[in-house]
Amino acid sequence: MFLLETRQLMKHFGGIMAVNEISLSIEKGEILGMIGPNGSGKSTFVNLLTGIYTPDKGQTIFKNQDITTLPVHRITEIGIARTFQNLRVFQNISVMTNILIGRHAQIHNSLWEVYLRPLSAWKREKAAREKALEFLELAHLTDRRDELAKNLPYGEQRLLEICRALASEPELLLLDEPCAGMNPVEMDTLAEFIQRIKASGTTIFIIEHNMRFIMAVAERIVVLNMGKKFKEGSPLEIQSDRGVQSIYLGEEEDV
Ligand SMILES: Nc1ncnc2c1ncn2[C@@H]1O[C@H](COP(=O)(O)OP(=O)(O)OP(=O)(O)O)[C@@H](O)[C@H]1O
Ligand SMILES: [Mg+2]
Repeated sequence: MFLLETRQLMKHFGGIMAVNEISLSIEKGEILGMIGPNGSGKSTFVNLLTGIYTPDKGQTIFKNQDITTLPVHRITEIGIARTFQNLRVFQNISVMTNILIGRHAQIHNSLWEVYLRPLSAWKREKAAREKALEFLELAHLTDRRDELAKNLPYGEQRLLEICRALASEPELLLLDEPCAGMNPVEMDTLAEFIQRIKASGTTIFIIEHNMRFIMAVAERIVVLNMGKKFKEGSPLEIQSDRGVQSIYLGEEEDV
């Protein structure tokens, strides 16, 4: 059963067709990977799913609901969270506060509530802290909770960013190049964290350039090329596909 489905999703910027009629589904409970050369439309695709962009054409269905034109905060509320390709951790505040900010979408404390029902607001705050601790534990970062984010090594800041996304308690977590800039040890730690997130019941969609990582972590992979879905299959099928190898050749020569 699919949790999310896109139907011929399309987005262009001027003359560039960034996402060209992409139809795919994300099954409940799976880890779906997405790869593709630079500029093939991966981040735009995630931006379409999360309401940052509205598609020119096509639909996104999440839990049987059409979410195509919903704004970002509504999409977060109904259960989709994401991280960005570039690190967006707040450097000068604590690890715990970073996560509490991520939970904001779930808390909904209105001004009236704060003034008229301070006890309920306090209880929610307490629950938010307890939940944040659960995510820190999942990331093996509990000891770091009071540190300023900037004092964490880079790899741990990336894990913190994922904790912050988890704080809205999503059913679907979208990760845009989570291992960018990581060393191999940090990547292994991230891979283990992702497996624990999956085990906790969250469905995961990962965009990644690092082939070793995505082949090891994803259960199924979609390949984009020039805005189109080029191929879809198991990591083994994708790895051995001549067509997929050829679209990457140009890139490797550039490196
Ligand atoms: N806001 C924008 N305005 C204009 N063009 C854009 C915009 N966002 C993306 N594009 C263009 O759309 C195409 C797809 O970009 P996108 O960022 O989705 O690719 P990507 O697959 O995520 O690439 P990378 O691997 O480098 O992150 C590119 O040609 C890019 O220049
Ligand atoms: Mg991108």
